[in-house]
Amino acid sequence: MNEYDGQRIEDILVLNGFTKEENPLNADVVIFYTCNIREKAVHKLESTVGMIKSPKTKVIAVGGCVAQAENDNIFKRIPRVNLSFGPSTYHRLPEYLNDLLSNKKKKIIDLNNYRLEKFDIVKRRRKITTSAYVAIQEGCDNFCTYCVVPYTRGREYSRPVIDIITEVKYLVSNGAKEIVLGGQNVNSYHGEAPYITIGSNRRTWRIEELIKAIASIDGIKRLRYLTSHPKDFTIDLMKVHNEVPSLVPFVHIPVQSGSDRILKLMNRNHTAKEYLDKLKMFRDICPDIQFSSDFIVGFPSETEEDFNDTLTLVEKAKYTLSFYFKYSMRPNTPAANMPNQVDEKIKDERLSKLINALLKDQVYYNNKLVGKTQEILITKKGKKENQYIGKNIYMQSVIINSDENIIDQFKTVLIESADENCVFGRLLS
Ligand code: 5AD
Ligand code: SF4
Repeated sequence: MNEYDGQRIEDILVLNGFTKEENPLNADVVIFYTCNIREKAVHKLESTVGMIKSPKTKVIAVGGCVAQAENDNIFKRIPRVNLSFGPSTYHRLPEYLNDLLSNKKKKIIDLNNYRLEKFDIVKRRRKITTSAYVAIQEGCDNFCTYCVVPYTRGREYSRPVIDIITEVKYLVSNGAKEIVLGGQNVNSYHGEAPYITIGSNRRTWRIEELIKAIASIDGIKRLRYLTSHPKDFTIDLMKVHNEVPSLVPFVHIPVQSGSDRILKLMNRNHTAKEYLDKLKMFRDICPDIQFSSDFIVGFPSETEEDFNDTLTLVEKAKYTLSFYFKYSMRPNTPAANMPNQVDEKIKDERLSKLINALLKDQVYYNNKLVGKTQEILITKKGKKENQYIGKNIYMQSVIINSDENIIDQFKTVLIESADENCVFGRLLS
């Protein structure tokens, strides 16, 4: 979501007469758009601001979740910052920057919630990519005890169906072929319905209905949604995967831990068995479905036994791809005050054990692709000359060689070999 916000900020500024400067040391304005989910990101912000030592810099802005969480304190913590803006205010940046650049104001802070206004303005995009992210909801009401999101992104807000459909139609008619419906917890989407069905007084649509309506728009090749919360994942949504051919058979459903005791302390509202039963049900309904997940190791009071429960869950769940983190204490979250915080060294040990367990399945799924022909959306340049990196429907990274720049195109690729992190293919067309 931060990447999406960053692109919208660039669009808004360029549409309002600003130009993009690649080298921050030559810029009048340097904007840091930040994540507050783990402490490391905040430290990175402090050290990176320190590197901006240029007489040209007139405005240093900090936006996003760190700004929201730090409030006034940001100006004390990093005195060179003169603009601080929350995640629901960035559409007002042109006005704030002009006020600062013309010396009308010396410092500005805006942490308000202008979501309706923001989504209305960010509809305007400068350049449309083949894969386009569309925010369908923002914020979270789940209050997992380790997480800052409900405090920084705020409470759940679902955009009206009609706004989302209009935006998707506009994106598709301007070249987008993959639509990613995004939000912190998309399964609890409940946006204002475009019409009310006779005999029903329901005034909101669920994600199942939204996906079906979007899939009927001509020109969409791939449709994805993320992130999902296990407790809100319904059988109806699983069934939609069989009804909608463009909906990819790949879902990100973070579990965080395999220990029921830790899941309870995390306030996740489900047990390990309930989670695994959902994956099984999903596989029964939709046999080619694959999953990815997020994990946190070293949550307060996590014992060796709790951690082993996570390893057992990993063995049973069989993920194509995973993201893993050491628990990071976030100020003002309930978990920060829990007793028995886990030692960093133990977190490191558990993280490396977990990575080994997850890689086993990742290697299996990567090798399974060898010999297959797949459609790959090329997303970026690789490290070596003529090398490009793309994603298949399961978000596995595919590396191919090409003499031409093929970024942002769908290509047919024969997969020839694989390792634990990616697969290697040959361009067919
Ligand atoms: N420490 C470590 N990881 C966290 N996440 C959220 N909060 C924390 C935290 N305090 C992880 C979760 C979530 C992902 C987006 O970030 O795994 O699913
Ligand atoms: Fe944070 Fe996700 Fe939990 Fe919401 S569901 S509080 S965003 S971890």
